[in-house]
Amino acid sequence: MKDSLFWGIFMDKIYGTMQTQLEQNQLHELLEFLKIPSISADSSYKQSVNEAAQWVANSLKSIDCESVAVIPTPGHPVVYGEYMIDNNLPTILVYGHYDVQPPDPVDLWDSPPFEPVIKKTDIHPEGAIFARGACDDKGQMFMHIKAIENLKSKGELPCNVKFMIEGEEEVGSDHLEGFIKDHLDKLRCDQILISDTGINSLTKPAITTGLRGLSYMEVTVTGPNRDLHSGLYGGTVANPINILCEMIASLHNEDYQVNIPGFYDQVIDYTETERKMIEQAPIDDKNFKQSLAIKRLHGESGFTTLERKSIRPTLDVNGIWGGYTGEGAKTVIPSQAHAKISMRLVPNQQWETISQLFENHFKSIAPESVKVTVNTHHGGQAYLTPTDDIGYQAASKAYEKVFGVAPVPLRDGGSIPIVPMFEEVLGCKTLLMGFGLDSDAIHSPNEHYGIRNFFLGIETIEAFYSEYMKLWEKNT
Ligand code: BES
Ligand code: MN
Ligand code: MN
Repeated sequence: MKDSLFWGIFMDKIYGTMQTQLEQNQLHELLEFLKIPSISADSSYKQSVNEAAQWVANSLKSIDCESVAVIPTPGHPVVYGEYMIDNNLPTILVYGHYDVQPPDPVDLWDSPPFEPVIKKTDIHPEGAIFARGACDDKGQMFMHIKAIENLKSKGELPCNVKFMIEGEEEVGSDHLEGFIKDHLDKLRCDQILISDTGINSLTKPAITTGLRGLSYMEVTVTGPNRDLHSGLYGGTVANPINILCEMIASLHNEDYQVNIPGFYDQVIDYTETERKMIEQAPIDDKNFKQSLAIKRLHGESGFTTLERKSIRPTLDVNGIWGGYTGEGAKTVIPSQAHAKISMRLVPNQQWETISQLFENHFKSIAPESVKVTVNTHHGGQAYLTPTDDIGYQAASKAYEKVFGVAPVPLRDGGSIPIVPMFEEVLGCKTLLMGFGLDSDAIHSPNEHYGIRNFFLGIETIEAFYSEYMKLWEKNT
């Protein structure tokens, strides 16, 4: 490896302990992977997205996976590879994504998003890799390839493993359902395993047991048939931006609940015992506020911060535009205003129903002075993982072994919409063994992933396989 001496000394300094040559190589490989700008949302990066897929395929080949292929879809390709040792043994299907969010706004990054650098932070004194995708999900997905590499080199891989790594997660996994239906036999498995979520901290590990669902909408408000001089026309016609803002403001009531008729109809009320269970990994409001430099939190009355971001549905504007936003001032009443609005959903809410409720309501509150169109981008249901199966039990033992503390179950607020579909189509439960921290800034400028998280993650995944097999043998 080029610069390996320099790299070894450097790694020794930042990681604190001397890394093995193997570990140095693994980290170095990840840095190479992070240099590929695989932005799935932006069609001008299509070639880079393909390059990242090829990179994953080569990485799978380098650990001697079989049937490795970059399989085209109508969108970005899926990378497949397998390590089958015995048909009588269980099969773990690892899912992850090699695509990343756009890095915008690029000006707010301290270093270029696709030129990974390692820096120390308060939370990561051993160093963290700063790059788009470091945590979500290249770094976390790559841990699985390296864990299998380690197990194989020790002759300790105890069961079959399949990899399905996609390139459209960040844009709604539009073609994955079709892909799975076309390859049902190939993808048959006993347990789906994903590292694309987080833990509370390195001293308080958690296993994600719930993800929220999602409905993603786009609205357009149209007023006059052209942009107008705001002096000649101001006061006589509806300004679509003013109207859009009023409409959006009316979507929450004074308790900050979502003001759409029927929105909460399917939401399950939790008992006090269930709420206590959920609160096992409480969020410290003071730290939370401090980390975001805000004076006060904001959310639905009657719920804790953790509840607000996990078991309660929400509505947020993700983007709003219209009129003149360039340099200087331009006096204008725009013809149109637009917004992207998403709703995070909880178990039992159906995203298709919620999207329809939103559309009906949003159109119904539009004044006659404007026209409103509503489009659905994509969506997905919420998901709850079991905690009484051997997958969860094995994961729990593995975290405890590596972190020295038993993990708590964590209901998380993010979404991986394809997970409920796995269960529907493959009939298989998912286990969410994440290792990121909320402060890792996924989707934000300066995304990073702790080097310690990376290596502890690999170790925990390795431990998972042996714990899983112990429980599997006991049960069969
Ligand atoms: N890895 C995240 C989801 C996540 C992160 C769940 C942390 C729980 C904890 C995933 O890549 C993601 O960003 N999902 C999107 C949905 C998708 C349809 C764009 C999300 O949650 O916004
Ligand atoms: Mn992700
Ligand atoms: Mn993401």
